[in-house]
Amino acid sequence: MDAFLINGKKQLSGKISVSGAKNAILPIMTATLLTEGKSILHNVPHINDFKMMSHLLRIIGARVEHENNTMKIDSSNAGYWEAPYELVSKMRASIYVLGPLLAKFNKASVAFPGGCAIGTRPVDLHLMAIEKLGANITIEHGYINANCPDGLVGAEITFPFISVGATANTLMAAVLAKGKSILNNIALEPEIDSLISFLNKMGAKIKHLHNNSLEIIGVDKLSPVEMTMIPDRIEAGTLLLSSAITKNSFTICNCEPQHLISLIEKMELAGCKFEISDGNITVFPAEMIKPVDITTEAYPGFPTDLQAQFMSYMTLANGKCQIKETIFPDRFMHIAELNRLGANIQINNGIAEVSGVKKLSGAEVMATDLRASAALVLAGLAAEGETTISRIYHIDRGYEKIEQKLNAIGADIKRIIQ
Ligand code: EPZ
Repeated sequence: MDAFLINGKKQLSGKISVSGAKNAILPIMTATLLTEGKSILHNVPHINDFKMMSHLLRIIGARVEHENNTMKIDSSNAGYWEAPYELVSKMRASIYVLGPLLAKFNKASVAFPGGCAIGTRPVDLHLMAIEKLGANITIEHGYINANCPDGLVGAEITFPFISVGATANTLMAAVLAKGKSILNNIALEPEIDSLISFLNKMGAKIKHLHNNSLEIIGVDKLSPVEMTMIPDRIEAGTLLLSSAITKNSFTICNCEPQHLISLIEKMELAGCKFEISDGNITVFPAEMIKPVDITTEAYPGFPTDLQAQFMSYMTLANGKCQIKETIFPDRFMHIAELNRLGANIQINNGIAEVSGVKKLSGAEVMATDLRASAALVLAGLAAEGETTISRIYHIDRGYEKIEQKLNAIGADIKRIIQ
């Protein structure tokens, strides 16, 4: 199994480029099932989640090519309407085929996704929404079996709380439904906006009614499109924090600063300064890191996907801070590993209390999930001596060649076989 061997405290400088957004591209890949013909997606990094999603689309009958960060998906011969457990259990985002399969083929059989390191990950909101659109749903032998012989019918759906995945799945189901749908209390993440842009480019009729409601007028047919994917705000945030934690100034390129306001505000409170110019952000790190409390929230609040990485940064702050995780309450698996690197973090009443230490010291640690592994890379870059991070297949799911990008600006990260 691959591991990272990191020699910490190297001088980092120069420019580092952000890749296309994993969580924007995954639903767009499944949205191509809504049409026939070849859709072309640009700025698509080579990460393992896309390999798994491509495999699932091929099982459904689509043709998928992915070369030099351009992905071509031809769903003309798609017709198999099942997403098998062996795939869904490895990647929760497989649930994103539910909406498109139902919309296109009036039936779908998707393995019930299990939990993962950050929580049980229920899909009750996905099912509530597609039932409102007229699907008959049964759950047996670990599969969600949905069908709508006469096709889906538009409806008004109000989500009881914000769900990125349920918003995406419902959008993809409603665009081919008969009549009008209204979605209330939708997720406002940039990845949802990019899915809406992609669907409207295909010929869907989706418009914002007011801040967090949408109107969708169902259409009979959608067409394949060509589009460039938005930059990954979580990778960009991870790289901003790698500059801050190592106290080395460098520039993050090809990102969308507008998507990172909540993180930048918290880093400014910690003492960082920024130079921002169309798509590039240069960080001027604080010499003395001030402790800053964060609470994760749905966009535009502080993203849960940057909570672990920010916690790594706060382990070296000059004082104490509190980190509250409101989206995935169990998302603290990185704490034990950070403490192995010399951090001082306690959990009291579900809140992480970080007491800053003078330094981190390299050690052997283990990645537990995608963003926890990114947090350990940041800590390893700042730690004295060698850090070995095992199970880095987690990081390969969502970051393209992260060690090559960081080594190109002066880091010393070796990929080793353990
Ligand atoms: C998406 O997951 C992202 N994944 C996650 O990123 C991200 O952390 C999350 O949104 C929140 O921003 C992808 O886009 C592929 P949710 P998703 O539905 O859609 C609960 C990463 O690291 N919930 O917004 O699964 C849920 O348990 C990943 O890239 C229900 O109870 O998140 C959570 O507590 C990790 N029932 C909260 O809602 C449901 O039917 C928000 O989940 C759906 C969700």
